[in-house]
Amino acid sequence: MTIPALDIDPFSREFFDAPFPAHAALRDAGPVVYLPRYGIVAVARYEQVRAMLLDWQSYSSVRGVGMSDFSREKPWRLPSLLLETDPPLHDRTRKLMDRVLSPAAMRALRATFATAADELIDTLLERGSFDAVRDLAEAYPLTVFPDAVGMPRENRRFLLPYGNMVFNSFGPRNDFFEAAVQDAAPVLEWVQAQSRKEALAPAGFGAVIHAAVDTGEITADEAAVLVRSLLTAGVDTTVNGLGAAMYCLARFPGQFARLRADPSLARGAFEEAVRLESPVQTFFRTTTRAVDIGGETVGEGCKVLMFLGAANRDPRQWEQPDAYDITRRNAAHVGFGTGIHGCVGAVLARLEGEVVLSALARKVETLEITGEPVRRYNNTLRGLSSLPLHISRHRSPGRSG
Ligand code: HEM
Repeated sequence: MTIPALDIDPFSREFFDAPFPAHAALRDAGPVVYLPRYGIVAVARYEQVRAMLLDWQSYSSVRGVGMSDFSREKPWRLPSLLLETDPPLHDRTRKLMDRVLSPAAMRALRATFATAADELIDTLLERGSFDAVRDLAEAYPLTVFPDAVGMPRENRRFLLPYGNMVFNSFGPRNDFFEAAVQDAAPVLEWVQAQSRKEALAPAGFGAVIHAAVDTGEITADEAAVLVRSLLTAGVDTTVNGLGAAMYCLARFPGQFARLRADPSLARGAFEEAVRLESPVQTFFRTTTRAVDIGGETVGEGCKVLMFLGAANRDPRQWEQPDAYDITRRNAAHVGFGTGIHGCVGAVLARLEGEVVLSALARKVETLEITGEPVRRYNNTLRGLSSLPLHISRHRSPGRSG
């Protein structure tokens, strides 16, 4: 095998603390690298990551999008009917979910989401000092998202340990995974129960999914598994997306000044944070045949690790890849994936990001980090567990509304 081997553990604390030099080493080693520690190959350059995301015929999801190969190991949960499927099943479930999370559905939610964002920023301005992860990045999605799904008010924070466990499960069975499993054990049954029709309000994403049973589009069991997908993928991802945006704006004051001068840049500011920080760092595929990756042959049935985060900072694709630039033309980033599995919830994440950053731009004058940010370790997600911030109110009253 002429594929270069790198002795890197991309699921270790050292890697998560300083991923960028390791990403550069992975990209520079070649279009495909071998990671002997796990016996897998990996791609970290933008060109190969994107090509792989677009070629579902050669790079399957049905054997799991984590390190575990479902054809050899029994999946720890019923596989996802979206993420862990290939066409034709994927086409059927995806069509329904595209309708549940359609642009029209997002337009219907916009006013409520915007009001909730304005109210949250007002409350935080009253306090001045707060934790941008707990009090903003977690608080906001935990309010608006379960409401949109049609969930009851109680125990919504349970979604966090559940999501944390699922995203850890895509990596190896390491300490991060074991700790997450322990944390999530008490909430597993609760999550299952929330996915059932009886638990959900008559209006909301959950009800729309269950209504598809009546039209014969899906079965009742499939409906519960599809609701579970929303509960799994809908919170921790946006928590880390909003956290990333706050962290970027606090570290790049020039970009925050541009956003304040023109709050209509809020959407771009969120998108660029998703590119730069890549809240979802990695996913796997399994080869369905022998493939050629940048001139190297990789056999059938191999697990391939895709570094979305490294692709989003690849200097072969991006000018000044490590700079946060809220007007960058970044539509081609792979932070939400691309191709048939491209994030079905991106429209919702973007809506949340836009309204929160727009409220911030209109109401906040200064944004300052007041303590040491603390990293949260997860085999798939990149983000912080704490970001102490101080904000002050915009001085001109005309701008604060
Ligand atoms: C900033 C926030 C988010 C990020 C960075 C993100 C990232 C991603 C990525 C990279 C994928 C591709 C997976 C693959 O190719 O294997 C994906 C798929 C998916 N995402 Fe998201 N996501 C976010 C928010 C959301 C939200 C809010 C929801 C639910 C409302 C959601 C639900 C899903 C689902 C169900 C899939 C699987 C789609 C399919 O396989 O067809 N995501 N997401």
